[in-house]
Amino acid sequence: MGSGTYVIAGGSSGIGRELVRMLTPAAARIDVWSREVHDVEPGDVIRHAACDFGIPDGPLPEPPEEIRGAVYCPGTITLRSFRSLTTADFRRDLEVNLIGAVRFLQACQPRLRGLDDRPASVVLFSTVAVGQGMPMHASVAAAKGAVEGLMRSLAAEWAPKVRVNAIAPALTDTPLAARLLSSPEKHDAMAGRYPLKRIGTPADAAALACFLLSDESGWMTGQVLGMDGGLSTLRV
Ligand SMILES: NC(=O)c1ccc[n+]([C@@H]2O[C@H](COP(=O)([O-])OP(=O)(O)OC[C@H]3O[C@@H](n4cnc5c(N)ncnc54)[C@H](OP(=O)(O)O)[C@@H]3O)[C@@H](O)[C@H]2O)c1
Repeated sequence: MGSGTYVIAGGSSGIGRELVRMLTPAAARIDVWSREVHDVEPGDVIRHAACDFGIPDGPLPEPPEEIRGAVYCPGTITLRSFRSLTTADFRRDLEVNLIGAVRFLQACQPRLRGLDDRPASVVLFSTVAVGQGMPMHASVAAAKGAVEGLMRSLAAEWAPKVRVNAIAPALTDTPLAARLLSSPEKHDAMAGRYPLKRIGTPADAAALACFLLSDESGWMTGQVLGMDGGLSTLRV
């Protein structure tokens, strides 16, 4: 991972927080945008700016002058039957997952700069429930499916100067998933569903995001990469 400036929306918790931790030793500057600071410690490298992507057209912070990598982490887990989902639920999931990513990238785009002839990098987050149909996931899967379409379109439109990829995690042990993992029994039952017999850690997905930000993935763009313990592709 080279030095440079990164903007991590949702870098204060879960996967984004772990990504900030991994980037910090080499980065020149990391701007974290989220509603609350949580346990990030702003200093010379890390800066925090408050914003809420759930507010339609709400104000966004000023991005840094030059951005080597931009990552949009805010997301939702709305697990309800289609019958009980309201159009307001669908709109809220679209606002945080899709429109928030659109607004984030509109703010960052003019300042995305690669180094020499190496492109800048953007990472978005989808979910395993887009590629594999799962009950109770209609709202979040619809919103994340739109994120995957956005990712591929921008990867085409912004090549060769900017690479754009997405990570599709399955269940990962973060505050977002806390309700699903609230007891050792639930944790074990969930882990048992995965071919690799465990759920994801924030470090699993953050390490993949680090790779996608780095020049080591310099010939990859327009990809959705599963980080799912084998759930989406294996039957064991
Ligand atoms: N964890 C899973 O099991 C799982 C599974 C599939 C996909 N994913 C996807 O992976 C991504 C990262 O998830 P995670 O589990 O790391 O989530 P997380 O622990 O909830 O962290 C999300 C981050 O985004 C920020 N955020 C959330 N809503 C925001 C808003 N309206 N405005 C501004 N910032 C907001 C949060 O900070 P504040 O709350 O302070 O704003 C936090 O820093 C998400 O896109 C999620 O959909 C996660």
